[in-house]
Amino acid sequence: MNRTRTGIPGLDKLLEGGFPEASTILLAGPPGTGKTIFGLQFLYNGIVDNGEPGVLIQLGEFPKSLYWYAEEFAWDFSELQKQKSLSIYSFDPKDYYSFAPKTLKSQVLDKLQKLIETLKVKRLVVDSITPLRPSISDEYEYETTLHYMINFFKEMNLTALLVADEEKRERYSTEAHIVDGVLHIDFEKNADEKQWDKKLRIEKMEATNFPMAWYPVNINTRVGISVRPFT
Ligand SMILES: Nc1ncnc2c1ncn2[C@@H]1O[C@H](COP(=O)(O)OP(=O)(O)OP(=O)(O)O)[C@@H](O)[C@H]1O
Ligand SMILES: [Mg+2]
Repeated sequence: MNRTRTGIPGLDKLLEGGFPEASTILLAGPPGTGKTIFGLQFLYNGIVDNGEPGVLIQLGEFPKSLYWYAEEFAWDFSELQKQKSLSIYSFDPKDYYSFAPKTLKSQVLDKLQKLIETLKVKRLVVDSITPLRPSISDEYEYETTLHYMINFFKEMNLTALLVADEEKRERYSTEAHIVDGVLHIDFEKNADEKQWDKKLRIEKMEATNFPMAWYPVNINTRVGISVRPFT
């Protein structure tokens, strides 16, 4: 099986080389755990290290904040956009209804398909899927939207990362069932109880023999996010 390397230091080793190609992965965690950084780094590494163009779909993240991250971690997104290896779609809250099953294809997927085929896109990140549920009338329609989206990603042979904000919506059990893999980032009080550390766990990954453990996570200026193996 082909693997899509995340390029996140420490993570690919735990995933037998990376996410299964054309899989859809849910990345869930509370605010401030590094989900956006993870997603951007996944796209950046894809383009720079693997020559795999990417698409970022922003829902509920302010488009401008992307350039703060670019500066902090030295990811030149403007240049990648100019080269057309990175494409960004920012949806305004008034347009979230486009993701309802009735309009998803005509208003979102058809446009994406053109772009994906023209630019040979391989990776896609949705940051985040959380605003979608309240914008779609009921749970059944929401599940249908997720199914349509994931089927579309697979047809397009994309490896996709869906960011999910915990706290606003605590359990992502519906989503976790539908996707091929689940990563969870969380906070933990360290041993002296004075500081919060970040940790990551792989909860599900199709076709992968992964360790069932929490791993310490670091975020550093210029480096980005990394996962530390136990020593
Ligand atoms: N230079 C840095 N050094 C260390 N930690 C940093 C640095 N920059 C950001 N962080 C950490 O990253 C966090 C922000 O990461 P990010 O924006 O990816 O979080 P998020 O999970 O997407 O949050 P939200 O759910 O609010 O969107 C900060 O709260 C901080 O803990
Ligand atoms: Mg975020």
